[in-house]
Amino acid sequence: MKISDRTAGFSYAIRDVIAAANEVEAKGHKIIKLNIGDPIKYGFKTPKILTDPLRYVEEENYNYYADSRGILEFREAIADYENNKYNVGVTAEKVIATAGVSEGIQMTLMSFTNPGDRILIPGIHYPSYSGNGTIFGNDMQYYRTVVEDNYYPDPDHIRSLMNDRTKLVFLNTPNNPTGSVYPEKVLKEIVDIVGEYDACIVSDETYDLLVLDEGLKHTATAEVAKDVPVIAYNGFSKVFLAPGWRLAYAYIHDPLGKIEEPWDGLNKLTRLRLCASTPLQKAGAEALKQDQSSYLPETIKLLKERRDLIYNRLSEMDGIVVNKPEAAFYIFSMISMDQFKWKNDKEFVFDYLRKKHILTVFGSGFGPFGNDGFRMVYLPTLEEIDIAMNRLEELLRENRI
Ligand SMILES: Cc1ncc(COP(=O)(O)O)c(C=O)c1O
Repeated sequence: MKISDRTAGFSYAIRDVIAAANEVEAKGHKIIKLNIGDPIKYGFKTPKILTDPLRYVEEENYNYYADSRGILEFREAIADYENNKYNVGVTAEKVIATAGVSEGIQMTLMSFTNPGDRILIPGIHYPSYSGNGTIFGNDMQYYRTVVEDNYYPDPDHIRSLMNDRTKLVFLNTPNNPTGSVYPEKVLKEIVDIVGEYDACIVSDETYDLLVLDEGLKHTATAEVAKDVPVIAYNGFSKVFLAPGWRLAYAYIHDPLGKIEEPWDGLNKLTRLRLCASTPLQKAGAEALKQDQSSYLPETIKLLKERRDLIYNRLSEMDGIVVNKPEAAFYIFSMISMDQFKWKNDKEFVFDYLRKKHILTVFGSGFGPFGNDGFRMVYLPTLEEIDIAMNRLEELLRENRI
C-alpha cells in the first residue's frame, strides 16, 4: 500500500537530520547536538511550581476525561495569566487547552481553511506551519524575512501577497528560528493590512517570556489588533521548560465576532480527540497561580550568556552573516556560499556533522528565505558552544575557495 500524497508531501527538517547523526554516532563519534529546541535535553529542569502540584493531582484523582475545550479552572487560569501579562481582555470562553501548540496549529488550519485557501507564513519559519499547510492543501505564500532587517516581517511584501482567498496570516514572535522579537510598529502595520481583508492573524507567542535583553518587551498581537481577529498560541514547552508535558493553549481576540464560526469549529474539533491531558491541566492551572521568579530570571541569565558567546563567535567569522537573537534559544546564520566549496546549506550542514560532529539544521528546512542559512540551538554549555565554534572556524577554513 502507498503512503497518502498529503503525508508524503511534507518534511520536517529539525528531525530529518537525525538519521544522518545516528549514522555518525554508530561509527563511535560523539556529536554535539545543536539541533533540537528542548531545554531538558541540555540539563535545564522543569520548575517546581509545575511539578509540585502533580502530587496534589494524585490525591484529588484528576484522571478523568476533561471537557474537550479544557477544564474550566485551567482556562480561567490562562485567561488571568494572559490578562496579567498583556492588555488582551481574554475570558475562559475564548480559551482552549491543546496538546502542545502543535495541536493548536493543526486544528486551526483544519477549522479555518479549505484546500486552496491562501495562508501567509514567515519566509523563515517554524516548519510546523508549512508542514500542516501541505497536509491541508493550502496555498502557502512566504513573506520576506531577511537578516538585513533583523528577520522582521516585511509589511509591504505581506500586502502584495494578500488576496480574497487569504484566510490566515501567521506571525511568530519571539521567532523560532531567528530569535527576533517583532517591533510593535511592525505588528500594527500588519494588523492594518490584514484588517482590509476577511482574514485572521495567527500569532504564535510560544517564547513570549524568553526575551533576553533588558528594555525589550514582547508585544502580544491581540494587544494591538484593534478589531482584527487574532488566534494566539502559547504553552508550557518553552517558558515553563516542560516540552514533554504537551500542554498548551489557544485564545482568540475577536471583538466583532468575525471568526465565531471557525472558532466554534475549532471547539468542535477538540471533541474529536476527547481532551488534552487532565492531570497536567490541573497542575498547569496551579502553577499559573505562582510567581515565575523562582526560575525564569535564572533561565534568562543562562540563555543570555550562551547567546552572547555564540553570537560573538559567529559574528567574527568571515563568510557568516548573523544578527543578534533577541529572545528564545536559536541563532540563524546565513553563509556567503560564493566564498566556499559547498553548493547549498544542506551540503554545509551534513559536512559540519560528518567531519566535525556538530549537528545543526539546514536553513532551507525553515522555508525559501532560509536557503543558504543554518540554525543552531544555544542551549548547550558554554564549553560545548566554544568547541562547536572552534570546529566551525576550522570547517570554514578548510572549505574556503
Ligand atoms: C514557534 C514554535 N511554535 C510551536 C512549537 C511547538 O510547541 P509545542 O511543544 O507546544 O507543541 C515550537 C517548538 O519548537 C516552536 O518553536
